[in-house]
Amino acid sequence: MDTIRSRRSIRKFGDASVEDEKIDIILDAGRWAPSGMNNQPWQFIVVKDGETIEEVAGCTTYGDIVRSANLLIAVFLDRDRMYDGTKDTMAIGACIQNMLLAAHSVELGAVWLGEILNRREKVNQILNAPDSLKLMAVIAIGYPVERATSTRKALSEIAHLEQYGHPY
Ligand SMILES: Cc1cc2nc3c(=O)[nH]c(=O)nc-3n(C[C@H](O)[C@H](O)[C@H](O)COP(=O)(O)O)c2cc1C
Repeated sequence: MDTIRSRRSIRKFGDASVEDEKIDIILDAGRWAPSGMNNQPWQFIVVKDGETIEEVAGCTTYGDIVRSANLLIAVFLDRDRMYDGTKDTMAIGACIQNMLLAAHSVELGAVWLGEILNRREKVNQILNAPDSLKLMAVIAIGYPVERATSTRKALSEIAHLEQYGHPY
């Protein structure tokens, strides 16, 4: 619960590069996510090269965040392994959340970038990813140099007891 509650989207990173051991921890967290029928419909491309990061930055209005990171993990849905669009998409979400929590647990900061999907074909081209891979998110990762805050709706707004509308 501590890790879940204290994780925040981090959008500004320091210069220090992320150690390979930590990258492995993050990828491992992703691959251990649940998926329908355990089909594990994900593929990851790890991007460390500064020039490639710059190219990817050009694909989103959040380019400054991407540029600030020195590690990106592009998360793809492997169309060849799908069995149900909704469930496979949910599995990818679980996978990404696992990776965000793992990053946070090893003192890294990270943010899930979705706006970049508007230019997913271009990202595939930059990363030499085949059409069978559908970009689902880019996670920008690095050592945090900001403390972010966030809020959530109260449980009373979203949880119901026994029937909808009955206060929990
Ligand atoms: C599907 C999805 C897409 C997101 N896309 C972006 C994005 O493109 N740019 C960005 O800065 N943050 C993005 N975020 C991060 C959210 O803004 C953030 O999770 C939310 O504001 C709650 O803040 P917290 O993560 O610090 O708790 C995205 C999050 C999700 C789950």
